[in-house]
Amino acid sequence: VAGAYFDNNATTPLDPRVREAMLPWLGERVGNPSSAHSWGQAAYAAVEAARAEVAALLGAAPEEIVFTASGTEANNAVVAHALRSASPGDRIVVSAIEHPSILAACAEGEARGVEVARIAPGPDGVVPAERFAAALAPGVVLAALQLANNELGTLQPVVEVAGACRAAGVPLLCDAVQAAGKIAVDVAALGADYLTVGAHKFHGPLGAAALWIRPGAPFAPLLLGGAQERRRRASTVNVPAVVGFGAACRLARRELAARAAKLAALRDRFEAGLAAIPEAIVHGAAAPRLPHTANVAFPGLVNLDLLVRLDLAGYAVSTGPACGSGVVEPTPTLAALGLAREEAIATLRISFGDQNRAAEIDAFLPVLAREVAALRAAAPTGVPA
Ligand SMILES: Cc1ncc(COP(=O)(O)O)c(C=O)c1O
Repeated sequence: VAGAYFDNNATTPLDPRVREAMLPWLGERVGNPSSAHSWGQAAYAAVEAARAEVAALLGAAPEEIVFTASGTEANNAVVAHALRSASPGDRIVVSAIEHPSILAACAEGEARGVEVARIAPGPDGVVPAERFAAALAPGVVLAALQLANNELGTLQPVVEVAGACRAAGVPLLCDAVQAAGKIAVDVAALGADYLTVGAHKFHGPLGAAALWIRPGAPFAPLLLGGAQERRRRASTVNVPAVVGFGAACRLARRELAARAAKLAALRDRFEAGLAAIPEAIVHGAAAPRLPHTANVAFPGLVNLDLLVRLDLAGYAVSTGPACGSGVVEPTPTLAALGLAREEAIATLRISFGDQNRAAEIDAFLPVLAREVAALRAAAPTGVPA
């Protein structure tokens, strides 16, 4: 085995069975689900069948599901709704390790005088529920806590925080984009008011995601126009992507336990193999976490250098979301964790998917050890000026 894709938290390959389900809608089948003719009604039926599958994965009712184009759009829609009715001095409470699609949308509110409380995680990568609950006060118009962190994989205390939010009368948004399809996600058990998921994180297509809205929770659409999605999201529904999303949900629901066990075995095999690399530090390992995400520091090097060397060797891994600028900085999540800069900029995320095999990990570990050693030898001081 030479080379493998280990960046499944960024996006996953399409399951061939999902592609099969989508193909007719990328070929001979045509129809706008809003059209009254039989072509349109067939598309409508396909979209509604997919909606039922998404709802079933989440333990929700189909009419509570709003299709969106991405997880970002679903998260943005909820924050934008809360901000629309907020006044200067009102507050939003979020964890400091939310995805940028929530943090950046909140920062927009800050520019208009809405306060944003960002609750830091503990060193284990988990936001303490009591610390979050203590920030809930009159004037808080929205709270947001992810189900699982995209960099660390750590699970957050959504059930406890949802209870505190309910008691305080504050609506709660739960970003379950990284969790769905990997662990059980049940909207009734979680107790949030809004929950977001996206197909491309669990072997479905790009272009389809969903926002679940608890019946009675306040909401007004981000996109205005037609009456689609029961007037909660204007736009012609992306029929092929939504059909694929439904298929991915059906497979995830059926195969969830087997997938989670397999992914955890891959992750554990990888982390056990790190014993051969001096000073490899696994972040978040003490907390409950997703089965497929490993976040590891190799102090004494810079993560982007390691990513490039691994890429040349045929392996895809990640340094986190903030590497586009070319400037190496700790990701906001690792900074919130309180890691020393040297450790944070030496951190890689390795995330596994259903397509990965144990043999790929066995082949990867010696390559990783070789490249870490080479970089450490090249830069004995470890940290650039
Ligand atoms: C936790 C989390 N929320 C939201 C998103 C955004 O999803 P999308 O890429 O579909 O916009 C991501 C994707 O990286 C994520 O990891």
